[in-house]
Amino acid sequence: MPQLEISDLITATDPESGRRLPVRRADVVGQLHANGNARAARIVAGLPADQDGVLDPGAVDRLLISVHTELQRLSEELRIGQRLVHLIGPLRTAIRAAGHTGPFRLVDVGCGLGFLIRWLAATGALGPDTELIGVDLNAALVGEADRLARAERLDCRFVHGNAFTLPEAATVYVSTGVLHHFPEPALAEFFRAQGASPAMAFCHYDIAATGLAPIGAWMFHRARMRHPLGRHDGVASARRAHDDATLLRAAATAPDMRPLLYEPRRVANPFCTTLRPVIGVRPHLEAPLRQALGRSSRRLLGPEQFAGAAR
Ligand SMILES: C[S@@+](CC[C@H](N)C(=O)[O-])C[C@H]1O[C@@H](n2cnc3c(N)ncnc32)[C@H](O)[C@@H]1O
Repeated sequence: MPQLEISDLITATDPESGRRLPVRRADVVGQLHANGNARAARIVAGLPADQDGVLDPGAVDRLLISVHTELQRLSEELRIGQRLVHLIGPLRTAIRAAGHTGPFRLVDVGCGLGFLIRWLAATGALGPDTELIGVDLNAALVGEADRLARAERLDCRFVHGNAFTLPEAATVYVSTGVLHHFPEPALAEFFRAQGASPAMAFCHYDIAATGLAPIGAWMFHRARMRHPLGRHDGVASARRAHDDATLLRAAATAPDMRPLLYEPRRVANPFCTTLRPVIGVRPHLEAPLRQALGRSSRRLLGPEQFAGAAR
């Protein structure tokens, strides 16, 4: 049975117009029962709905904002901003060294409450002349990201919509905790959209699919998340995380991008591996990226080194 996350099921958006679609509570409950997940079905059955059985969109939005607010602690504890800068800093150097000028535009796909973009804006960790944009299909989450950024007067932007149909092309696409939401065919589509765009690179962090990940996720979400939805989805995320080989295979379908994994399972301590990125760079950027990374470049594996490490 595929692992389902409640948060994926209780909102629906028209992919063309971005318009919110009604979601019938009984449909979601039925889907979760059919998937053998009675606990998740009970959580959804407790959510408010109108007389036609349609989930109350306002209540759903408030719940998702509250769960994502708690989830930001995980981003803080896992130092997601610092991890990203460790790679994007050298990547930016490599892009400049290869003679690319113009703005360095970083687009966070599925930014949620925008923790990463707001952290980058608040710390200035990527240096000046970096355009920071967070994009999400969920209007409530990205609206809250925008509100928080304005409250702190941060130099960044949040956009409601599909990250791959923005009027301005990204220099680099990034994301955190998004890849596991896509089943395999959609995952390849996700990478193909970036290869087909004018972007120079992508760098997507997600939960490392180790045997310990569901236990670690259970402990964190039990200790730190209050709502049962957050606790449920946290563990389901870890269970459905894609393994390294699947990510590399999917990233390899992006046209004219060299797929790479940083710190995959075999070169990292499984007790310390929580998140790791899959990266794609235009082929001419690999050498300058490795040079800019210095000693850390040993941890950056292409498909052939990855296959070698498996033997
Ligand atoms: C679990 S959330 C991740 C939130 C955030 N990155 C974090 O770390 O808290 C995944 C989000 O990806 C968004 N999403 C998926 N595909 C997208 C796309 N093509 N463009 C914009 N947002 C997308 C969904 O709307 C959802 O809110």
